[in-house]
Order: sequence, then C-alpha cells, then structure tokens
Amino acid sequence: MRTMFKVMALAASLSASVSTYAFAEDTVEVLHWWTSGGEAAAVGVLKDDLQKQGVSWQDMPVAGGGGEAANTALKARVTSGNPPTAAQLLGMAVNEWAEEGLLGDLTSVADQEGWDKVVPDAIKAFAVHDGKWQAVPVNIHRPNWLWINAKVFADNGLEPPKTWDEFNVVADKLKEKGIVPLAHGGQPWQDTTIFDDVVVGIGGPEFYKKAILELDESALNSDTMVKVFDQMRKIRGYVDPNFSGRDWNLATAMVIKGEAAMQLMGDWAKGEIVKAGAKPGTNILCVAAPGTEGTFLFNTDFFAMFPVGEDKVAGQHKLAASVMSPSFQEAFNLVKGSIPARTDVPGDKFDPCAQKSMADLKAAQASGTMMGSLAHGHAEPAAIQRAIFDVVTQHFNSDMSSKDAVAALINSVNSAK
Ligand code: BGC
Repeated sequence: MRTMFKVMALAASLSASVSTYAFAEDTVEVLHWWTSGGEAAAVGVLKDDLQKQGVSWQDMPVAGGGGEAANTALKARVTSGNPPTAAQLLGMAVNEWAEEGLLGDLTSVADQEGWDKVVPDAIKAFAVHDGKWQAVPVNIHRPNWLWINAKVFADNGLEPPKTWDEFNVVADKLKEKGIVPLAHGGQPWQDTTIFDDVVVGIGGPEFYKKAILELDESALNSDTMVKVFDQMRKIRGYVDPNFSGRDWNLATAMVIKGEAAMQLMGDWAKGEIVKAGAKPGTNILCVAAPGTEGTFLFNTDFFAMFPVGEDKVAGQHKLAASVMSPSFQEAFNLVKGSIPARTDVPGDKFDPCAQKSMADLKAAQASGTMMGSLAHGHAEPAAIQRAIFDVVTQHFNSDMSSKDAVAALINSVNSAK
C-alpha cells in the first residue's frame, strides 16, 4: 500500500513537472517604438524567434519615431511601480537607467554566450556598466544616409551629390522642374537627424566630435557652425509645404513612390523600402549623406530588463540570449534595415546598402570616425539633446539668422548642462 502510494505520488509529481515544462510559458512584455510597416515586420521576426523557445511576447508599442514618446511612457510605468519586462532603449537612455540602478544584470548570459568578443567597443561602452552587462544590443543603425529615387535621378540626368554644394545644385534643378527635392517630416528628431549630417558634412568628423560630443564652446561658437545653419536654411527651401509633423515613414514612402527625390534618414528607412517591395541599391540608392563618406554615425537599439520579479528573470535571460544569437541577428537585421551588432555575422545575405554599412563601419572603427548620433541618443544625455533639438527646430521653422541660431545653441546647451 505504502509502495503503491509512493509510486502514485511519484507519477503525479512527474506528470506535474512534465506539464509545467510543456505548458508553462515565460512571458515577456516589451515596450518599444517599432510601429511603422518595416519596424513591425522586424518585431514579427523577434516574436516568432521567442515563440520557438516557449517565450510569449506581450506587445507594448508606443508610436513615435526616435522613441521620445516611448521613453516618456517607460518613465511613467517605472514610476508607478509597474515596469515592463524589457524596453527598447538607445545608448544614453541605457546609461541613465543603469545609473538609477534599475537594470537587470545580464552578465551570466553574456559570459555564457561570449558577447564580449563579438560586440564593438563603442557599443559595449553603453551596454556595460561597472563591468556588468546591463543591456543587449539588437543592431547597429547608421543615421547618416541619403536615400535617392534612382528613376527620378536618371530621368533628370542627375548624379548622387557628394558634398552639400553638390546637393544644393541637384536640389535646385529638381525644384525648377517642380519635383520635391527632399522628403522630410518636421519633427525635432528628424530635423536633428539632418543637422547631424550637416555638422559632419560641413565641418568634418573632428568638428562633430568637438562641437557635439565634447560641446566645446569654441566649436559651437564658430564660423563653421554659422555655415551649418546656413545650410539648414537652404534645406528648409527644398522640402514640400506639408512637411510639418509628418512621420518619417511617410516621407520614405514619398521617395519610394517618386513623389520626392531624396530623404536624409537612418537605415530604418530601408526597412520600409524592403517592405514596399523596392530594391535598396537599385530602385532606391543609398549613399552617405553629403560630405559624410568615411564617417559612421551610429545608434544601437538595446533591450534592457526591468525589475519585474524573480519569476520573470528566466524569460528576460531567454530574450537576451535569443537577441544576440547570430541567426537572430541576421534574420532581424535583414528586415530592420540595420546591420548586426555582432561583428561575426556574415554579410552575404544582406543587400548592397547593408554591405556598404558593414564595410564603412569597419573603416570608421579603424580611423576613429565611428561616432554616436546626437539625434538618436548616442551623443549627449537627454537634457542636452533636447536643448539642441529645440534650437535646431526653432531655426528650421522660422527666419532666425544663422548667427542668432548659434547664440541660441550656446545658451540652450549651457542652461541644460
Ligand atoms: C531607432 C530605430 C527606429 C527609428 C525610427 C531610431 O532611433 O534606433 O530602431 O526605427 O528610430 O523610429
């Protein structure tokens, strides 16, 4: 009787553990801002990958390119004591949350999977704090691209511009013919995506480093910076009258459809191009933003884990391991438009634009011109970034002179420090 009881008890406990194993799913709730067509397709890749490992995805999307709205939503969730399992963060935001002591430690996963050997130092600088991995990099985006509708250019006998002067000549010709030269969405982060390109393109990488990364006052208060705002004023003349507030992906769609000739945007635009069935490098050309060849501005999307209870840690670790696996990095980045965050993923399945990105990244790492993007949260903390956004956008939408813009820039930066 006793033996019988033991056998039954053993059977019951076995079946309980088998069913726990078979049915208990880890659930991760992930807050992110990937809501455009191409971005949502990339989220689909991630969701499917996790599902295969028994992790179910609870979506918490917060629309708004560049992630400002998502960051505000994240702060509200954390402050009210209800953080998501994980959140998409740009580099400076990883730093800020890590300083608050709120991010989960992923070092055990990183050690097991050997992240240290395959992630570029510039990215590790944001992911690792006090020797601990606190965020997992999903990709490397390059914001300093110019996207060109190949047919519009061919029909009008135009060549991709290599400098801002060439850009102005091309744009004037298009404008004369009644073609919108530049598709743009007037939102502070989009204005500043262009501003970053102009700072590098007019001043060179060393000037970007001094003015933007070091906030060196003599660089901010220079003739070069006056010229940067002069070029921003020129660009303002090349956008269509309905640019204000337009989402970035709608601007990309204008280039895909040939309603505008060019867009200055990061390679998440390539996600839209691919999703629309156009070929990057053939229908839509990709060249470095004018004057920025040789410079790789970068931003990385990280996932960081928030304190949601011990029972959720297994799911968080599965998410982290999955995101860094070479097969996921390939599958995801093929759809997202970015390149893998690990340097050991082969490029053969990628399109020519991504292959150029991989080669340019290597060259920029060697020459010290891989630099964090201001517009995309890898150059300055949020307060200073926003101070610069304000001036760039105010200048773009008014008749403020370049000299006044420079004075406003210095004031704004100094009061945000
Ligand atoms: C993010 C990209 C995103 C883009 C537009 C960037 O800051 O890094 O992943 O696609 O914003 O929303």
